[in-house]
Amino acid sequence: MELCIALDLPSAAENLKLAEALADYDRLWMKVGFRTYIRDGRAFLDTLKNINPHFRIFLDLKLYDIPNTMADAAQEIAELQVEMFNVHASAGERALRTVMERLTPYGERRPKVLAVTALTSFDEEEFRRIYEKGIDEKAQQFAKIAYEAGLDGVVCSAFESRAIKEITGENFATLCPGIRPFGEDAGDQQRVADLELAAREKVDYPVVGRPVYRDSDPAAKVRSILEEMGRIAKNN
Ligand code: C5P
Repeated sequence: MELCIALDLPSAAENLKLAEALADYDRLWMKVGFRTYIRDGRAFLDTLKNINPHFRIFLDLKLYDIPNTMADAAQEIAELQVEMFNVHASAGERALRTVMERLTPYGERRPKVLAVTALTSFDEEEFRRIYEKGIDEKAQQFAKIAYEAGLDGVVCSAFESRAIKEITGENFATLCPGIRPFGEDAGDQQRVADLELAAREKVDYPVVGRPVYRDSDPAAKVRSILEEMGRIAKNN
């Protein structure tokens, strides 16, 4: 498992202060959402890399458009030299394949591409009205399309992670929000998983936001999360 921190604070200054507090940890993933990216742009990404060149950036922009427009955007994202970004699986297999083809020339430097399956804000009924299938069934179908189109993984709930790997592949990555490392307050998340459960469900990238940035000492919190992840890995 590799820890991903959601930089969800309301201003660039606050997000950068959080990143600075975590600068001693190499190889953390930093999730930058579209609020931050729209407002603070490329300069924000550059500043993050200046704080720690080993931070890996997950640009959470959830692309959805016609295939060529998505591929154009994907290419611009690759030029930003971020390590990971995402697209909506519901854009369709042709769009996903077009994105991956466009990124082929980047070789080893190609950012990882994840597909969003079902947004967790949907309830079952609302979801059925759009997709005419249940969330679990459709999320698995979307994951399969993403796998076949050559993407690196999906964004999904920790509770779907193992089933998705079973129908795709062990190495098809799962990035899962809604992680409460030690069972902290769920906030507005419907279903949350702690690190033990995430590990059991074979989650590759647990995403943690509020439990870290709302802690009075985010650096100490991240240290305890990394220690716990190390302990779990050793026991498995
Ligand atoms: O604060 P918390 O740990 O709940 O943050 C989770 C992060 O993951 C937030 O950035 C949230 O927008 C994002 N996210 C989510 N559920 C999804 C997709 C993204 O919570 N299905």
